[in-house]
Amino acid sequence: MVADGARRAGGRMPRGIVYEEIDNYIDGLANRGDAALMAVEKQGLDEGWPIVGAAEGSLLHILARSVRAKRILELGTAIGYSGTWLARALADGGELVTVEHDPKTAALAQKNFERTGVSSKVRIVVGTAERALREVKGLFDFIFNDIDKVGYPAVLEPCIERVRLGGLLVTDNVLWHGDVSRKDRSPEVTAIRTYNERLSKDPRMIASVVPLRDGISIASKITIDGFGIAHHGVAHGVPSREP
Ligand SMILES: C[S@@+](CC[C@H](N)C(=O)[O-])C[C@H]1O[C@@H](n2cnc3c(N)ncnc32)[C@H](O)[C@@H]1O
Repeated sequence: MVADGARRAGGRMPRGIVYEEIDNYIDGLANRGDAALMAVEKQGLDEGWPIVGAAEGSLLHILARSVRAKRILELGTAIGYSGTWLARALADGGELVTVEHDPKTAALAQKNFERTGVSSKVRIVVGTAERALREVKGLFDFIFNDIDKVGYPAVLEPCIERVRLGGLLVTDNVLWHGDVSRKDRSPEVTAIRTYNERLSKDPRMIASVVPLRDGISIASKITIDGFGIAHHGVAHGVPSREP
């Protein structure tokens, strides 16, 4: 067992999802990209921006590449750290649309996209995620949701509608330091729980939570009409055979 092993090794109880030592170990192994991306990571740490970090950035990159994403939507740009990981995963001719409601933050992101050499592939939309989901046209191969947590339930349905069949909806902070599984009733926890439960029951999606960092939900759109059983041989929640 991981927990017993960590205790035997003198591990401290986790602040977040996994033991701090394990978190640090994973972070130590993570690919951090080139000097430009490392500089954005350092800026995030020095200035206290809530960026995803290298291990999660790499995971986003791997996932976007694995669906050969040509069109990616990111909700929550901040200083452009996760956005750079995503933009660098785009297939040739691809585009990242990234949404940030704070204009000053969007300007910092623009500078960083130039610094990391991806600005020609990135369009920053300054405005709310809710509005962008109504106004930006077309489907996406990959959507990354990382806005304020109380806003999660409101964007779930439009995100599901806007991800293409076979595409991915990836969401950050879905375990919220583990508080989602405890008795916590803060607005963030209540919103994240609602989001996680609706997503897990949605017949168009198959979702799984990875306990990396603050918890990442990875959901694949398996059908556009909710008839996943007939089309894919998967009874939602109860696999009838390997999907
Ligand atoms: C957690 S940070 C994003 C971090 C970024 N994904 C990264 O890892 O590099 C969330 C960002 O989303 C913005 N934001 C929060 N709620 C939003 C909303 N409803 N619409 C648009 N932007 C939002 C915040 O201003 C903040 O810059």
